[in-house]
Amino acid sequence: MLRCTRILTAVLLIASTALMSAQKPDAPGREWWKRAVFYELYPRSFADSNNDGIGDLNGITSKMGYLHDLGVDAIWISPCFPSPQVDFGYDVSDYENIDPMYGTLKDFDALAAEGKKKSVRIIFDFVVNHSSDKHPWFIESSSSKTNPKRDWYIWRDGKNGGPPNNWISTFGGSAWKLDPRTGQFYYHYFYAEQPDLNWRNPEVQKAMYDATRFWYKRGVSGFRLDAVDILFEDPDLRNNKVLEGKNAYGDPITDEKFNKKLPEVHDVMRKLRSAADEFGSVLIGETWTSNVSELKDYYGEHNDELQLPMDLMMTEFKGLSADQYRKHIAAVNAAGHWPVYVITNHDIVRSYTRYADGAHNDDIAKMMAMLYLTLRGTAIMYYGEEIGMENNDPKSKDEVQDPIGKLGWPLEKGRDGERTPMQWNGGENAGFSKAKPWLPVPANYKTHNVASEMKDANSVLSFYRQLLALRHKEPALLEGNFQLLNENDANVLTYVRRYKDEAILVVLNMSASDQNVGLDLSPLGFAQPRLSVLLTSFHKPLPGMAAELPMEPYSAFIAKITK
Ligand code: NOJ
Repeated sequence: MLRCTRILTAVLLIASTALMSAQKPDAPGREWWKRAVFYELYPRSFADSNNDGIGDLNGITSKMGYLHDLGVDAIWISPCFPSPQVDFGYDVSDYENIDPMYGTLKDFDALAAEGKKKSVRIIFDFVVNHSSDKHPWFIESSSSKTNPKRDWYIWRDGKNGGPPNNWISTFGGSAWKLDPRTGQFYYHYFYAEQPDLNWRNPEVQKAMYDATRFWYKRGVSGFRLDAVDILFEDPDLRNNKVLEGKNAYGDPITDEKFNKKLPEVHDVMRKLRSAADEFGSVLIGETWTSNVSELKDYYGEHNDELQLPMDLMMTEFKGLSADQYRKHIAAVNAAGHWPVYVITNHDIVRSYTRYADGAHNDDIAKMMAMLYLTLRGTAIMYYGEEIGMENNDPKSKDEVQDPIGKLGWPLEKGRDGERTPMQWNGGENAGFSKAKPWLPVPANYKTHNVASEMKDANSVLSFYRQLLALRHKEPALLEGNFQLLNENDANVLTYVRRYKDEAILVVLNMSASDQNVGLDLSPLGFAQPRLSVLLTSFHKPLPGMAAELPMEPYSAFIAKITK
């Protein structure tokens, strides 16, 4: 239990937590992507307008009002380019078109126009490292050793009757595939159907930069760049060091020194950035890093690379520990760059499922929402998080759609579980489609869906809506600095966001027991502070006066501090 040195004599003013209107002030000096809340959606699973069981662009357009009212400023749409769908869109066969399964370029224009009307920007997902093996570039490249596009991919002779070196595909097996037509191997970090582009070739670079300009001109406001750290490989193809153990596919684990995070990546980031800057657009990076210093590199020495390299480190935290979050957030803030916190996405078990304890699942979802939506930085949500969607993993191997789940079953079940249809209502197929959806809807769709949660003031959705409205309204949440309080508390994470005369206090109980939190705000210049409560996830009403703040298990509290 926390002991405070001076007892807070604050009056806890229980303010109305009624929905605040989602105003979006234009604070000077702030780039739009700093103020924006991004929302990733998986187009196969968001909304199905033509009832074929797979979502589409017109479906997304029809939900633009929902997204705007929720408080979303930009949607990142996972790849919707033409694709054989081996990796569900991350195998692109034409970078400048829309897959017919999702619609047409005209449908994209309608989506962008509706987005403009509702102030929701569109971010596309640019698969930079590799194309599909059905892309005309690869078809040409593989046709002969002398084809002008041969050098657009990475072709090498084998060694001693095997592949050129010991590099392993992250999706299983050797990263080299022999093409009998020319007797050479090509390199693929992911599936064999996803050959790596040769970024050392200036023609490849030009084609890819041009593709980004094509979409900027058509109305996208930026890209999420897929798998940026593997764009380059060691030209001498040196073997990686083999480490101990095997992965889920039974392959040796290697240090990936010679095919990951090569310094040349940064030249490409700078060039992609200068194309983005021509259009005032943003680049978000899929940047897997093991520490804050590695992440720092992706902003660029002169802030000329990615504006928003994703901090994916929290997704790897085990369990909930105030200490662990506090240390990480402090390190990120000390690094000085603009943070981008992510707690889940289409490759990771949903946050709701990861944190659930069976007794406080919705409370934990609300508490985590308050964490990442009130920290200093840009927040990226994942569709369905706002209604407490859970994972629905395949029950047997023959149900699996994601190829890595088929290969790695049962150790690796694949990513189907986190990609299931959006739960719009409690009706057939959760209101996603009139046809059988491509993936089954999770069991909790009856209780956790947009229609019923809209009507429930205590739902996860209502909490998100209020929180997002606050985030857009309160300058301290948008612009404020970040100060930790009670740094030795192992259970409760407490911090203040401060901007000019305004200060906002956030208290998050990350434990399963009640906690009384002493608050001494005098070092911050508040001798006799008044707290006006903006939002809590409490089940019981707050007492009017308190020496310590009583926090229910896994609860969240946010208040404005005034003198
Ligand atoms: C990362 C993407 O997020 C993932 O879904 C995809 O399978 C790989 N990159 C390959 O593009």
